[in-house]
Amino acid sequence: MKTVVIKMAKVKTLFVCQECGYESQKWLGKCPACGEWNTLVEEVQEPVKKRSVFGVKASPVHLNEVEITKEERFSSGTKELDRVLGGGIVRGSLVLVGGDPGIGKSTLLLQICESIGINNRILYVSGEESVNQIKLRADRLCISTPNLMLLSETNFEAIHSSILDVKPQLVIVDSVQTIFKPELTSAPGSISQVREVTVNLMKVAKENNIAVFLVGHVTKEGTLAGPRVLEHMVDCVLYFEGERHQSYRILRAVKNRFGSTNEIGVFEMQDRGLVEVDNPSLVLLSGRPKNVPGSCVVCIMEGTRPVLAEVQALVTPTSFGIPRRMSTGIDSNRIMMLMAVLEKRVGLHLQNQDAYINVVGGIRIDEPAADLGVITSIASSFRNISIPPQTILMGEVGLTGEVRAISHLGKRVNEANKLGFSRCIVPMGNMKNIKQSGDMKIIGVSSVQEALDVAVENSD
Ligand code: TYD
Ligand code: MG
Repeated sequence: MKTVVIKMAKVKTLFVCQECGYESQKWLGKCPACGEWNTLVEEVQEPVKKRSVFGVKASPVHLNEVEITKEERFSSGTKELDRVLGGGIVRGSLVLVGGDPGIGKSTLLLQICESIGINNRILYVSGEESVNQIKLRADRLCISTPNLMLLSETNFEAIHSSILDVKPQLVIVDSVQTIFKPELTSAPGSISQVREVTVNLMKVAKENNIAVFLVGHVTKEGTLAGPRVLEHMVDCVLYFEGERHQSYRILRAVKNRFGSTNEIGVFEMQDRGLVEVDNPSLVLLSGRPKNVPGSCVVCIMEGTRPVLAEVQALVTPTSFGIPRRMSTGIDSNRIMMLMAVLEKRVGLHLQNQDAYINVVGGIRIDEPAADLGVITSIASSFRNISIPPQTILMGEVGLTGEVRAISHLGKRVNEANKLGFSRCIVPMGNMKNIKQSGDMKIIGVSSVQEALDVAVENSD
């Protein structure tokens, strides 16, 4: 009998931190780079072919000789998504769509197929759902385009060959955490798999000029696939955000090689899928209580679009030694700073008061232009005096209690005017650049004290 000896090639393994990607030759309990415990996992390293740096030529070109080829785009049929992408989907680009599980990523991507399918072939690859499940969802969303091909597969090689067979213009891969390359021994969803799959998809996208949407679930720490290993590899990163129990969803670009990253798209999840919201301010202000202390309207810029939002504050005497400060939708450090300003510059005694601040509608405010509105809602709740409902406040607040000028005031005032506000309290520094117009009364203030006095002027 002949015995067959199979010679195994020596496989080199490395220990890779699943949090930050740190690599080590031996196992360690604590990652020296990020300090996390038990995050090092053994992974097979592919042998790197030795190459000589000599004889490899590259040829730099003069800036003036470079011919500009404008990127080719096609519309997704959804205005909000097109705007976030900077004017449509770019052929040959890889877009990562991140978000919490269940937020609506698969729904959004399936929904855009109907309109894209009019002129393009689409391959929808799902590693999470069977073809039947996708069909059921498609029926619910009234998707019936004949140009949509479905594939339920998790092996990257099989997906790759299907892409080459079908020759689609758009590929949707849902989700990166379920797809694996068989040559890696680590489990699907581990850093090495996710990284490898993304790099290869990027190659497929560029080589064949196919646009690829790649879904990535966000871990409970709020990052994509553990560390942010994917973000630098892809062309665009979109995050789909929102409270699961509220129906509004915000699509935000955090990276875009082909456009601005400030744009947001607003959607509402209904029983027949996601519906675009044309005027987010109207939605965010609907149901606002009038003449109630502690409520104030602010205006923030989301990219090129001004959005009005309601900030609510509840200030109540504390029953414990240390007062609580809780905030949703706004940085709690900013709240503490604004409360300190109220304490020192306006003389409100807030040390023995709990304060709860909430931005209504699940949106996040991180623009200092909202400071004046936030500080007014806190003062309004503390003094139990309501702000007249047709009043809106804009301005950044400094540590000496001064109100500082903000950008895009004209746009913000226009938006407020459109939504029926009649009194706008703005920084004095902005007054020289703004014209009083029609029924909108614009009042310039230079300090928080002055703003609070003006704000409650007409109220009882
Ligand atoms: P889904 O797109 O599956 O989320 P993700 O892919 O981000 O994990 O969205 C699932 C949620 O959306 C689910 O909780 C049900 C809800 N939904 C609707 O409210 N209406 C609909 O028409 C659809 C298809 C889903
Ligand atoms: Mg999904």
